Amino acid sequence: MKIGEVHDANRKTVGRTILHFDAVESTNETAKELLESDVEEGLVVWADRQVAGRGRHGRAWASPLGGLYSSFILRPKEAHAWLLGLLIGMPVVKALRHFGVFAGLKYPNDAVYQDRKIAGILSEGVYRHDVYHVVVGIGVNTNVDLEKLPAEVQPKATTLKREVNLFVANEEFLDYLLNQVDDLYSRYRNTRIEFLLKDYRGQCTTIGKRVSAMIGKDRVIGKAYDIATNGALVIADDQGAKHDFFEGTLEILK
Ligand code: BTN
Repeated sequence: MKIGEVHDANRKTVGRTILHFDAVESTNETAKELLESDVEEGLVVWADRQVAGRGRHGRAWASPLGGLYSSFILRPKEAHAWLLGLLIGMPVVKALRHFGVFAGLKYPNDAVYQDRKIAGILSEGVYRHDVYHVVVGIGVNTNVDLEKLPAEVQPKATTLKREVNLFVANEEFLDYLLNQVDDLYSRYRNTRIEFLLKDYRGQCTTIGKRVSAMIGKDRVIGKAYDIATNGALVIADDQGAKHDFFEGTLEILK
């Protein structure tokens, strides 16, 4: 059920209108349903909990009360849309740092603090009425008790509440986050993508680490070396050969 609607005319695109729900299946799905009507670019769907939250690679995203679950609708040029999902990790990290958690980005866009995931992004491209849209969903473990997350997730996850001895209301976090996303989206549309990728590289804590990645059917073990201009993570294997990794299983080795 919709429980509120917030407007902020100071934002350029993202977050000028926020629809607040108590519970939804998934904010990404609600955003996609809204595409059937003529909605403005940048519209945000925010929910207090999700009953069927989704993560990347078909995984579930546990969404108990206390966490922040939001999605927004963008209409970027299709050519670079995948990169947008990568770059949106930056505003998420910026917001976490603003509120006291010095998080970094695990490639492609997981926000991680001390090897524990604190936020994730699910970016999905969808055509509606011949127009290409991207629905970007962000889940942040803000005021969640770690014990409310599934047992198998707990050792690999953390929450803002656990790391910072200061209560941050979801509304306040979302407000700051949307300002950052709005800025990033405006830069994305007006700046050369290589410049943004350089910024991304600086925040990507996977660079320099030894990793194991599945690329197609092959396992590649080596050092995460660079971010290519197409957004791929470049891995240099032990023989010095370079491999581009985009999506799939990526493990950071100790
Ligand atoms: C991941 O790291 O696997 C991505 C997690 C994305 C979770 C968010 S919560 C808001 C939005 N709605 C969903 O169902 N998923 C995304």
